Amino acid sequence: MRKKIVAGNWKMNTTVPEGVELAKAVVAKSADVPADVKLIIATPATHLVPVAEVVKGSAVGLSAENCADKEKGAYTGEISAAMVASTGAEYTILGHSERRQYYGETDAKLVEKTKLALANNLGVILCVGETLEEREAGKHFDVVKAQTVNVLANFTAQDMKNIIIAYEPVWAIGTGKTATAEQAEEIHAYIRNVLAEQFDAQVAEDTTILYGGSCKPSNAKELFAKPDIDGGLIGGAALKADDFIAIAQSY
Ligand code: PGA
Repeated sequence: MRKKIVAGNWKMNTTVPEGVELAKAVVAKSADVPADVKLIIATPATHLVPVAEVVKGSAVGLSAENCADKEKGAYTGEISAAMVASTGAEYTILGHSERRQYYGETDAKLVEKTKLALANNLGVILCVGETLEEREAGKHFDVVKAQTVNVLANFTAQDMKNIIIAYEPVWAIGTGKTATAEQAEEIHAYIRNVLAEQFDAQVAEDTTILYGGSCKPSNAKELFAKPDIDGGLIGGAALKADDFIAIAQSY
């Protein structure tokens, strides 16, 4: 059975003390979440060490928001997968659309990042999703398939045990415009078919596929009720512990 996950992506928000407080609030309320729903918080890299202390011993997982496409060395400002793992984090988000859009993240770089993350025992939350223009041109299936296959063709069924996919339509991120549960389910089911073609039916069945894009307490229930939506990657609403927990309680 695939895991149900609700992951918060804090993006470039909160100072370290604010982030520690937010993490403490999430941990304090995490007992109110159904036991079969895994909570993960993805924090800025500066927060990982102190937040690892906060989540220690709790069921809340810790993730980075990115890691480098190089192992180590003269790459000023970059943070390697080994560094992320050494903080106590267990996951990293990769390929978020904001990184693809603003920081030139290509599928080729994502292959390298994913290899390094897995080699350092980090679970990967790989983001895919089309822009509004692509959806309006009817290209959303092709775009999502290409993003998925271009990266995952380099990995095995065994690797897929440590890879989570997040479908995040770019037009729904931070816009207040959520994909309808039907629109999201349609793509999630499609991604599962892509995984069946690329790997096998078992991988398709076992891979957790999260929805992201203006997911909030008021719409999470409808989204999570769909058979191929296994949880959410939450941006804005993850910055309020009560909202984040309420989303996870929507199951
Ligand atoms: P949002 O962001 O929930 O603020 O739309 C989701 C994301 O980008 O992961």
